[in-house]
Amino acid sequence: MTRQLSITLPSKSYTYPIVIGEGLLQTDQLIKHLLSLKVSQYAIITDTTVETLHAKILAMHLNNHKLKTILISFPPGEDHKSRATKEFCEDKLLGIGAGRDTCIIGMGGGIVTDLAGFVASTYCRGVPSVMIPTSLLAMVDASIGGKTGLNVPQGKNLIGTITQPTAVFIDTATLTTLPLAEIKNGMAEIIKHGLIADKTYLDFLKANAKKLLNLDLQLMEEAIYGSVVIKGKIVEEDEAEKGKRRLLNFGHTVAHAVEIATEHDIPHGRAVAIGVITESYLAMKMGHLQLSDFNAICDIIDLYQIDLTWQGTLKPGHLLDIMRMDKKSLRQTPRFVILNEIGKPLEFDGQYCTVAEEKSLHQAIEWMCSHLMIKNGVC
Ligand SMILES: NC(=O)c1ccc[n+]([C@@H]2O[C@H](COP(=O)([O-])OP(=O)(O)OC[C@H]3O[C@@H](n4cnc5c(N)ncnc54)[C@H](O)[C@@H]3O)[C@@H](O)[C@H]2O)c1
Repeated sequence: MTRQLSITLPSKSYTYPIVIGEGLLQTDQLIKHLLSLKVSQYAIITDTTVETLHAKILAMHLNNHKLKTILISFPPGEDHKSRATKEFCEDKLLGIGAGRDTCIIGMGGGIVTDLAGFVASTYCRGVPSVMIPTSLLAMVDASIGGKTGLNVPQGKNLIGTITQPTAVFIDTATLTTLPLAEIKNGMAEIIKHGLIADKTYLDFLKANAKKLLNLDLQLMEEAIYGSVVIKGKIVEEDEAEKGKRRLLNFGHTVAHAVEIATEHDIPHGRAVAIGVITESYLAMKMGHLQLSDFNAICDIIDLYQIDLTWQGTLKPGHLLDIMRMDKKSLRQTPRFVILNEIGKPLEFDGQYCTVAEEKSLHQAIEWMCSHLMIKNGVC
């Protein structure tokens, strides 16, 4: 079965489809969409792992349908979501004389979709892009909503754009080659979506943890659909992240600092799980979240066996310094999305995030460094 939904951005009178289904890449639906773009060639940007597993097959499929397609790949890893890789992709495109009548296809995990989307948004002042996420995290989050970008030593995603693709194609069959650790990384963002918006969805995740971890593709499709609905609605309301879209950053002020402080030794999904628990602890210390909800949040992350540990040493002061550069910061003071209850974040006069009392913030970060990430006995 194929599911389809769309994202509509009223300010731009723009709607694009998100299609989800097993074996989707082998159907005519993708070909039809690519033909409708009326371009003369397609450049699949991917990483070397996804190139071998899926992108070469897709390139062959497109070439068989007489769609002129080239592959551009770079090594996997957060270090390659960089200015240098963007330049590398642009040089490849310039090298083949690609003009504005080129479509960029971002096929891979979130690193690829973020980078490919950014290349598409600036190449020839913008060419159309299609996203084909192949990691769970990219399917439910990174490929949805048009945020593109890259990392610099000062922080994650500090350079980028918000540019929507023409379509997103999510083929759940590509998940069969994804390592379990990456499935768990994706689950962290899926859980985050439930926590900020929908307790019923979270109950579904709780009831089906075993099957989802065992990659029951039918249930996985339902889980992906549920997450895309939650994220899609928020993006439709606030594409430019002036308010409500900040909710999607729940757990991320801490997560980005953890990723940078560990030099990406802890990948994004695990960092988000650590961030979600730590920012929930903060909400509790600030007198908002009840202990029972906090425990329930720890339990669901535990249920998905997401590894929260790290062998190195983290210094709270260093993490706090990094957080000052977070994109939600105001005058270098970090702000946090705060849960009042599961599924019910606080609005803070339309800001959807707030500065934390210094004492509570220090307590939360110290607790994270000295207890959560060391012991891994979640809470
Ligand atoms: N733009 C957004 O809104 C947004 C939202 C969330 C996260 N992100 C970004 O996404 C990135 C993390 O994405 P990620 O977790 O997908 O990481 P990733 O891109 O590194 O992918 C994880 C790993 O899985 C491999 N892989 C991907 N698909 C595969 C498949 N089908 N089979 C086998 N291996 C496969 C990749 O090669 C990589 O090694 C971060 O940079 C984060 O900042 C962006």
